[in-house]
Amino acid sequence: MRRALVAGNWKMNGSRAMAHDLTAAIVAARPDKADVLLCPPTPYLGTVAAGLAGSAVMLGAQDCSEHASGAYTGEVAASMLVDSGCSHVILGHSERRQLFGDDDTRVAAKVARAHGCGLKPVLCVGETLDERRADATEAAVARQLDAVLGLDGIAAILADLVIAYEPVWAIGTGETATPAQAQAVHAFIRERVARVDAARAADMRLLYGGSVKPANAAELFAMPDIDGGLIGGASLEAEPFLAICNAAP
Ligand code: 13P
Repeated sequence: MRRALVAGNWKMNGSRAMAHDLTAAIVAARPDKADVLLCPPTPYLGTVAAGLAGSAVMLGAQDCSEHASGAYTGEVAASMLVDSGCSHVILGHSERRQLFGDDDTRVAAKVARAHGCGLKPVLCVGETLDERRADATEAAVARQLDAVLGLDGIAAILADLVIAYEPVWAIGTGETATPAQAQAVHAFIRERVARVDAARAADMRLLYGGSVKPANAAELFAMPDIDGGLIGGASLEAEPFLAICNAAP
């Protein structure tokens, strides 16, 4: 069985004090039903890394540049994230895609760069409400996936890749995909990856994200192709986040 992974995406929230205290509370609870990953805002990576020292909880970033280094004011290089203690980086989050111009090509370039620097990419895919209404969910997800699955060196990247299905209409809206809706897209994603590498597709972790709460986590995580979650709002406080971690089967 695939061991669950529960990742907290704090987005642009909190303060240094909050980052410190939340990390301390999560580490003290020693969640052990799932692997746990915290993705704080970039300025707090050091604070969270210090709090995670000696713990099994992992550190991730929320984005990185597709460029290696140089004159890219405001950007953060993947190598710097490694230097800061990150093992993972979220890439292609729908907020990056919608608000900051991260198109499929750039997301794929970021995945390649991050992996080349030793990070495990958490690739986000998901359809908008319009796409779902137009019955274009699979087409949208396939387009986002195929940009990455077509990369040179995809075999090596797949070994470290995590994919998160986050329907845009379910993010921060309180509206969750039903377990059956999420499962259907997860199965589609796994089948798409299997076209490239069937063995890897079978053991790759596919996370669901979009209004996961303690009340709905267990039924989502019980689905055969849902291997954990990417948690936004409910990751900003220890109690609900830990409850979600403990909802892993
Ligand atoms: P919410 O859990 O707040 O809906 O956010 C989901 C998300 O975007 C995680 O990356």
